[in-house]
Amino acid sequence: MVQTLDPALKTHEKNAGPPATRHPQWAFFKGEFVPIDDAKVSIMSQVVNYGIGAFGGIRGYWNEDKQQLYVFRLSDHIRRFLSACKLFNATIPYSDADLKRIIVDLLRREGYREDAYIRPLLYNATEDITPRLYDADFDFAAFSRAQGNYIRLSVRACTSTWRRLDDNIIPSRGKITGGYINSAFAKSEAHWNGYDEAIVLNQDGHVAEGSAMNLFIVREGRLRTPSVNDNILEGITRNSIIQLAREELDIEVEERSIDRSELYIADEVLFCGTGAQVAAVVEIDHRSIGNGRMGPVTQQLQETYFEIVRGKNPKYMDWLTPVY
Ligand SMILES: Cc1ncc(COP(=O)(O)O)c(C=O)c1O
Repeated sequence: MVQTLDPALKTHEKNAGPPATRHPQWAFFKGEFVPIDDAKVSIMSQVVNYGIGAFGGIRGYWNEDKQQLYVFRLSDHIRRFLSACKLFNATIPYSDADLKRIIVDLLRREGYREDAYIRPLLYNATEDITPRLYDADFDFAAFSRAQGNYIRLSVRACTSTWRRLDDNIIPSRGKITGGYINSAFAKSEAHWNGYDEAIVLNQDGHVAEGSAMNLFIVREGRLRTPSVNDNILEGITRNSIIQLAREELDIEVEERSIDRSELYIADEVLFCGTGAQVAAVVEIDHRSIGNGRMGPVTQQLQETYFEIVRGKNPKYMDWLTPVY
């Protein structure tokens, strides 16, 4: 079902998904599962002081009929998380298979019977004043939480005055903890100016992405999305949307730089991401996109995506890891 904007809602209400139904109980911390309130790092650590860390963001979707929680593209998320560790030249004592097991165990322990979000985390626990990656005490942790919508499925956006991080400043292709200050600036500016979301341009002035989501436009029946060299996160949902557009909707997808003005004249614009899922951008900088409502391509992609993530499409079951 398509969720449309209720104009009576205030922006902060539109932005907030349903609240988590309960506080999580468990974390994986220092090599074992511990009560979440015992998973604490020092205020002297470099992750607290300098944001030296990297994380992942993964969703589990509850299927009521099958009484099953499905984790979406877990192996791909783990692969990207380990690539971010590599950017730091940090090693953790866990293989892909270990990380997969830890995440599934964590979800099982929590016993979710609702949608959930999982956060693997690499953090620099070094208690020293020199920000550094060498001689560093990197460790791995993970926690989860119940999670509904992160943003509404139909949003108003503005072009941010903040620019996306350049690859030679902080690589956007890793989910690097300190890099999310950029997301916080962009999201907060949008919120304070009465919008739901921000569209952030890169240093070249081309469209990069939202504060925590990738972006596609539809023009002349074709999908276009910024290329991976435009300082975007190499999104797993983005990758899924490209495949679904080609295979299920028979729509061409072009990966190339997008100008800001192309947004204004697009027939449709959509955000996608683990948090955002697939959301229509119906207004940008006071211009209606298309007719100001979710367009047909976005709607089809959104429906296909939700069917797949909940385990209702047999063709894509290999994208899902059952928890129970
Ligand atoms: C900056 C940014 N861009 C894009 C995305 C979407 O990536 P993915 O689909 O892998 O969640 C995210 C994370 O959700 C993000 O933080």
